[in-house]
Amino acid sequence: MAIFISFTKKLFFILPRQIHPFLLPYKGAVLEECLNKLRPFVDTYAENFYQIFFDEHPEARTLFGKHMSQGDLYRSINNFMLFLADNTQNPRVFIPFFEKLGKRHKMYGVQRYQLEWVIETNIKTLKRILGSEWKDSYEKEWRQAYRWGLKIVIAGGEF
Ligand code: HEM
Repeated sequence: MAIFISFTKKLFFILPRQIHPFLLPYKGAVLEECLNKLRPFVDTYAENFYQIFFDEHPEARTLFGKHMSQGDLYRSINNFMLFLADNTQNPRVFIPFFEKLGKRHKMYGVQRYQLEWVIETNIKTLKRILGSEWKDSYEKEWRQAYRWGLKIVIAGGEF
């Protein structure tokens, strides 16, 4: 009998408890620096994010407001950014989280191609909030990390 073990579960089991930063496909320290700069302004993240997101992708609006209030969504998004700040270099924590996030987003009716939109909006949001504290080196690491994280979301949600 063939036993199916998902890509992400295999990855999870071979990961050592402490992962060396060089083994991650992005520079975790660079992202951590960026996210630490966001911490004092984190309460403003979701509001800015959705302003940009709905401006550029108005068709996504119909998916929202069905599973939670706007206040709860904003709080979850801002907490998610803090979760990333705390676990940038801790894949044993964020891999299972991303898998479940993928499952929930499938249930919200999100399409696979729409998942690509978030990276641009995230970069624009951080640039807007951090202003002169933003560094161009952050962009490359966000893109690398997002490409990798998205694979886990896609596998978890079976998109
Ligand atoms: C991969 C990038 C994304 C991340 C990290 C993310 C993160 C989140 C988080 C943390 C929540 C709070 C609820 C939960 O944890 O399930 C949420 C809710 C939600 N997200 Fe996302 N999201 C992403 C992409 C998207 C995209 C591309 C769309 C739609 C085009 C979307 C639509 C929604 C909807 C509809 C909800 C429920 C909110 C409501 O009912 O008003 N998400 N998202």
